[in-house]
Amino acid sequence: MNKAEKLIVICNGRACKKYGSDRIIQALKKIGNDRIKITTKYCFGKCGNGVTVLILPEGQFYPNINNEKEIINLLKI
Ligand code: FES
Repeated sequence: MNKAEKLIVICNGRACKKYGSDRIIQALKKIGNDRIKITTKYCFGKCGNGVTVLILPEGQFYPNINNEKEIINLLKI
């Protein structure tokens, strides 16, 4: 089994739920990829006009994600 190369932490707090975090989480899990691991967190304190996502190991926050395709584009996979 390969070790995950990226960890995607998707906010599932109240504001991000309003922007569809549950839908994005489910969509990414369906796509599946053994190089990425997906987990959730309750509010990063960076609520915006979309779902807030943290990509590790880079440690970069993306506060206005609207769908799973935007995350895939960020990962360049
Ligand atoms: S609820 Fe997602 S960053 Fe606050």
